[in-house]
Amino acid sequence: MEVGFPKTIQDEATRKTAGDACFSKISSAELGYFTDGYSKFFTKNKRKMMPLINRGTWTRVFSVRTLVNNFLSKFPTDKIQIVSLGAGFDCNFFYYQENVLEFNERDLHYFEVDFEDITAQKIDIIKQHSELEELIFKDAEPSYEEGMIQTERYTLLSCDIRQVDDLEDKLVQVGLDKTIPTLVLTECVLCYMNSEDSSQIIAKIAEMFADVAIVNFEMINPNDPFGTTMVENLEARGCQLLGLKDVPDESAQVARMVDNGFQNGYCENMLRIHNSKLDETERSRIERIEMFDEFEEWDLLQSHYCICVGSKFSDSSELGF
Ligand SMILES: C[S@@+](CC[C@H](N)C(=O)[O-])C[C@H]1O[C@@H](n2cnc3c(N)ncnc32)[C@H](O)[C@@H]1O
Repeated sequence: MEVGFPKTIQDEATRKTAGDACFSKISSAELGYFTDGYSKFFTKNKRKMMPLINRGTWTRVFSVRTLVNNFLSKFPTDKIQIVSLGAGFDCNFFYYQENVLEFNERDLHYFEVDFEDITAQKIDIIKQHSELEELIFKDAEPSYEEGMIQTERYTLLSCDIRQVDDLEDKLVQVGLDKTIPTLVLTECVLCYMNSEDSSQIIAKIAEMFADVAIVNFEMINPNDPFGTTMVENLEARGCQLLGLKDVPDESAQVARMVDNGFQNGYCENMLRIHNSKLDETERSRIERIEMFDEFEEWDLLQSHYCICVGSKFSDSSELGF
């Protein structure tokens, strides 16, 4: 028997979150929290968000970028690949390609996967903006296959990532190399599916690659008063955090990685990451951007998000944090 909302309604609400993620990034990027000149193409809605939200978005974006940078430096000479599952309208590929030499000059491939209609919308928007096409196709004439983009460095394709065998087949068909160092990103994606599905995805990633790490960002602590409100607010919009009841806290996040094939799992909530793991200079720069006095709310909000890293790099080292 199906528990909660019917799957199609839940999937539809989950797809809408791609626009929400974009929305917050535009607000903080426009104020100068971080560089992102491209999210603005992916939604017509624009609104200045509260300082609390802008600072939270910066913490998320800066943390994920820090881990990606760590991955780039960890394998300075190898061919590498990054696979973003549930990539939505994320614009990090464009950011790296334009701004990060260590990325742009590397022999690497960046894969993005999402539901068919999100991928189709992303392709439509890319087609309308030559700035985006130039970053993807460089000097070559832009060319689009049915429902996907594929170039030497970048692939955008559609798949329901819960269909793990299909996911593997599709990625391998477009050139995924299981033998090279790989970083998988699941940013605010796994929490929307039940824990059997998210565990299967993690197990599939661990099984597919010898040298791999996964970076998972999502909500935690649904059972305290703040967490209950967070869950209820999303449910009111038709979107359930289906995975949260089985993976409610940092230790459950780590257990899910370790139980599904990653030797090394570690997790930090975003408050600890913000307070003690991020670059100090950058932190004091963003602290001067807006007046900020919501300290209690900040601590609460940030302690309800985390980054969990699962890694099975062959040298057993961690990725960072
Ligand atoms: C909150 S958005 C995050 C997007 C992006 N990772 C980011 O951080 O900006 C969640 C994304 O996951 C995608 N997603 C959720 N479940 C999925 C599934 N089963 N298969 C493919 N994509 C999925 C949604 O369509 C949506 O684009």
